[in-house]
Amino acid sequence: MNKPKTALDIEKIRSDFPILNEAVNGKSLVYFDNAATTQKPSVVINALTDYYGHYNANIHRGLHALAEKATFAFENSRHSLQRFLNAALVEEIIFTYGTTDGINLVAQTFGRRFLGQGDEIIISTLEHHSNIVPWQMLCEERGCVLRVIPINEQGELRMDEYEKMLSERTKLVSVVHVSNSLGTINPVKTIIEKAHAVGAKVLIDGAQATSHMEVDVQALDCDFYVFSLHKLYGPTGLGVLYGKKAILDAMPPYRGGGEMIKEVTFEKTTYNDLPYKFEAGTPNIADVVAALTAVQYVDELGKTNMAAYENELLRYATEQLGDIDGLRIVGQAAEKISVVSFVLAGIHPQDIGTILDQQGIAIRTGHHCTQPLMNRLGLPSGTARASFAVYNTFAEIDKLVQGIRKVQKMML
Ligand code: ALA
Repeated sequence: MNKPKTALDIEKIRSDFPILNEAVNGKSLVYFDNAATTQKPSVVINALTDYYGHYNANIHRGLHALAEKATFAFENSRHSLQRFLNAALVEEIIFTYGTTDGINLVAQTFGRRFLGQGDEIIISTLEHHSNIVPWQMLCEERGCVLRVIPINEQGELRMDEYEKMLSERTKLVSVVHVSNSLGTINPVKTIIEKAHAVGAKVLIDGAQATSHMEVDVQALDCDFYVFSLHKLYGPTGLGVLYGKKAILDAMPPYRGGGEMIKEVTFEKTTYNDLPYKFEAGTPNIADVVAALTAVQYVDELGKTNMAAYENELLRYATEQLGDIDGLRIVGQAAEKISVVSFVLAGIHPQDIGTILDQQGIAIRTGHHCTQPLMNRLGLPSGTARASFAVYNTFAEIDKLVQGIRKVQKMML
């Protein structure tokens, strides 16, 4: 095929990611499991070793030079994430352990404080388990009711059904921005507007969105937005919960301990201000510091450039995979990110994954932590999923196509 035009130097970008030089099973690595986690550029890896090698210290506690340097770097990263999401206030950025942790925080604080018997929470068929189970736990405890927006055959939300579900009983809508299994981009701005019209609050699970599109929480007007840094070329074990200040202020703390307090006596404890009220204990300092470099890296490439290139990869992969007899692409939404889920007639997804792995090609197979979605699609064994990032190439997609043909040769 003709090389598509891109404003990005993909070879240079590839050289930023040391892991892409690895051989896997004797073959050059083709990494197509980016929806599970992206690889890390050297700047992020170096930021981690720089912190541990030169200014490792606990933050917000010591007065010595290392503690001051570490505290400055940590809070500087919070500011960069505020800019990244266009949050109005820096204290609206809460560091968590990841997307799952952020959703649990909201369920256990906002949910337990403000939701009760008969109140309704709306989620969707596209949700990851992390945006289902915390609400089921809350419903069990508080007597709330969970409602689920259905999807159409393309894997898009049935907005007509969503509108019918909304009522004065709806207290929270919690939906995924982009489906991890199918790549569907949901119309979250409309979802938020309609929820607000009945007085409900809205949480958006942005785990799959932040590396593929601009996210502006003020323009969206969401009440909460959660995501993980490890899907944004940053470190694992770190996430961000954005929440509107007035709502976060009204929520009780989640974990108790150091840092989240103002004053402790055996009789009574008063809590710290935002964001520290929700950040008990020594935080994940090294990863927060390294997150700044991940955000800078993405900013320098430019999300618009990244999305344009990834869309070309998606278009090419959809075309090439579509030519394979017996292959069916699952999820054909009009608005999609660079994720291709597929099934092969007569072949279990696990076998696809294993045989591709022998060829050095990493994809994810199975239910992708979306069992209810897979059941709705009539695919209890799940799918095979190739998910692309900015460092992937058209030549790698050609290898995937050859790999799938080999799977068919071996299995059929
Ligand atoms: N949620 C991640 C995925 O889709 C782990 O693979």
